[in-house]
Amino acid sequence: MSTISLPRRFALIPAAGVGTRMSARLPKQYMMLAGKPMLQYALDTFAASDLIAHTFVVVSPDDGYIDDMLSALPHLQGTVTVLRHGGDSRQQSVLNGLHEIRTQLADHDWVLVHDAARPLLDNIMLEQLITAIDGDKVGGLLALPIVDTLKRSHTGRVQTTVSRDELWAAQTPQMFRYGLLTHALERAMIRSEAVTDDASAIEMLGMQPKLVAGNPRNFKVTLEHDIALAEIFLKG
Ligand code: CTP
Ligand code: MG
Repeated sequence: MSTISLPRRFALIPAAGVGTRMSARLPKQYMMLAGKPMLQYALDTFAASDLIAHTFVVVSPDDGYIDDMLSALPHLQGTVTVLRHGGDSRQQSVLNGLHEIRTQLADHDWVLVHDAARPLLDNIMLEQLITAIDGDKVGGLLALPIVDTLKRSHTGRVQTTVSRDELWAAQTPQMFRYGLLTHALERAMIRSEAVTDDASAIEMLGMQPKLVAGNPRNFKVTLEHDIALAEIFLKG
């Protein structure tokens, strides 16, 4: 009898940022959006999916919000584990989280890294990603083909128009095997290479993550005016 287990899928949500660009009273992942804290949307989506075994959320060591939030959400009990190991950057928070869960995951298990600041992820997008990536050797991410004309600026004026052919905007979740992603992020950190998402660490190993067409709704709530837009989508 084989003892090799089938790969499982876990969600890992970095939620240790402070939301500098939002300039709100509290970290943006805890701001109320259409009646719920922003972070709750992603937790609910993962908890409701049969395709996700468990969710880990990485918060800052001195986070004063997560315990109160979760104690008010008994339906999430048992679906999410809080890791108080956030770091100085998103990538450090992700890597710290991966290290904390190493005894619970096998190298071949999938990790779906998803920004707490993308509350509009839904089960349809999640299933599209998983269906496209489950059999893939490298892994991949939700992303959107660029539709706008792109300009490169120099001191506030157009220097040149950049071709949008073949350009995509990366979203999350980004889905990679636990062992590969951990190795890729460790290597990028040691070399101080600038990684702004999980896929770029994989790319630095010479691999080519798969792009899976996402949805504009799955945007990252970053600036104050994004709140109103997110609420329109959430209420609609
Ligand atoms: N994040 C994290 N640890 C950090 C920085 C960011 O876990 N040190 C998380 C954020 O909480 C967020 C996600 O990474 O869920 C995407 O980051 P971003 O949208 O940039 O959030 P912030 O860094 O909080 O916002 P800002 O850059 O405006 O400060
Ligand atoms: Mg940030």
